[in-house]
Amino acid sequence: MTFSRAYPAHRPRRMRRDAFSRRLMQENTVSTNDLILPVFVLEDPNGREPVESMPGVERLGIENLSRLAEQALELGIPVLALFPVTPPQAKSEHAEAAYDPDGLVQRTVRALKERFPELGIMTDVALDPYTTHGQDGIIDANGYVLNDETVEVLIRQAESHAAAGADIVAPSDMMDGRIGAIRENLEARGHIYTRIMAYSAKYASAFYGPFRDAVGSAANLGKADKTTYQMDPANGNEAIHEVTADLAEGADMVMVKPGMPYLDVIYRVKQELKAPTFAYHVSGEYAMLKAAAERGWLDWDKCIMETMTSFKRAGADGVLTYAAMDIARQLK
Ligand code: PBG
Repeated sequence: MTFSRAYPAHRPRRMRRDAFSRRLMQENTVSTNDLILPVFVLEDPNGREPVESMPGVERLGIENLSRLAEQALELGIPVLALFPVTPPQAKSEHAEAAYDPDGLVQRTVRALKERFPELGIMTDVALDPYTTHGQDGIIDANGYVLNDETVEVLIRQAESHAAAGADIVAPSDMMDGRIGAIRENLEARGHIYTRIMAYSAKYASAFYGPFRDAVGSAANLGKADKTTYQMDPANGNEAIHEVTADLAEGADMVMVKPGMPYLDVIYRVKQELKAPTFAYHVSGEYAMLKAAAERGWLDWDKCIMETMTSFKRAGADGVLTYAAMDIARQLK
C-alpha cells in the first residue's frame, strides 16, 4: 500500500478549527488573582494629578486612593503596591524620611489596612523617593552608592513599613545582602509574617523613565544612572545568581524587572528555581502600549491581555502592572 503525500502529515489547524477545541487545549490562563496594582501616593489627602507620560494613571491622595482601593478589592485584585510622591522638602542626603513612622507611606499603609483589611498592601523598600540626589542609596563624595551603609537604612525602612501593617515589603534597591539583613531584623522584631518580594533581577533599564517622572525623582537623578547596582541588560546568568542568593537570604517571592523585554529571564528563573516568580510590566512598557493605542495603532484591550498571557507562558505567577484595573474589568 502506498501513502499519498497529497495531504499534510500534521494538521494542527484541526484543533484550532472550533472555539471548543481551542479552549480545550489552551495552556495558560490569565486570572485577576495574578495582578498587583502599583499606585502613586500624594501627600494631599484630596489630591489627584494625572501622570502625563502614563495616560490613565493618576497620582492620588489617600481619599481618592481609598476609592480606587475599594474598586480594586471589588474586582478581586489581591494586592496594591504603594509608591510615594515625596514632597521636595522631605528629601534629604541620607533619606531620613524613608523610615519616619509617620511618613507618607507608613500613614497610607495604616489607613488602607484599617479601611480594607483584606486587601494586600505591598511597599517599595528603596531610598530614591527620599534622596536629594535620586539614587536608591547613601552616596559617597564621588556619588558612588555605598552598599552596607544603605542596607542599614533599608532595614529601618522595611521595619517601619511592617510596623505600619504592610503585608509585603519589596526591596527594589539592588544592594548586596539586603534581603538577609531585612529578614533577620523583621524576625527579631516579631514581624514574622511580613512577606518579602525581592526585586532580584532588576535591570538598569531605560523603560523606568515615566515612573521617575511620576514620583518626581527624574530631576533629582539628573544625568546620573544606576548601573553600579542595577543589572546590565546583556546578562542572563547573573539573574539566576541574584535570585538564588535572595531566596537563600529569605525572600518569599522573587521578581524580574522590566517584563516584556526580559521574558527569557522570567522563564529561566521559574525553570531553575521554581519559586513564586513575578514580573514587573514597568512604566515605559505601559506608556508605549498606551501611546500606540491612543493613536489607534494598536488595540489596547487585546494587546494588554496578550502581554499578560506572555508573562504567564514564560512562567510568571503574577504581574505588577499599571493596567491591572483594565485587565480585571476585562476578565469580569
Ligand atoms: C525605585 C523603583 C523604580 C521602579 C520601581 N521602584 C525606578 C528605578 O529603579 O529607577 C520602576 C517602576 C516602573 O518603571 O514602572 N527603586
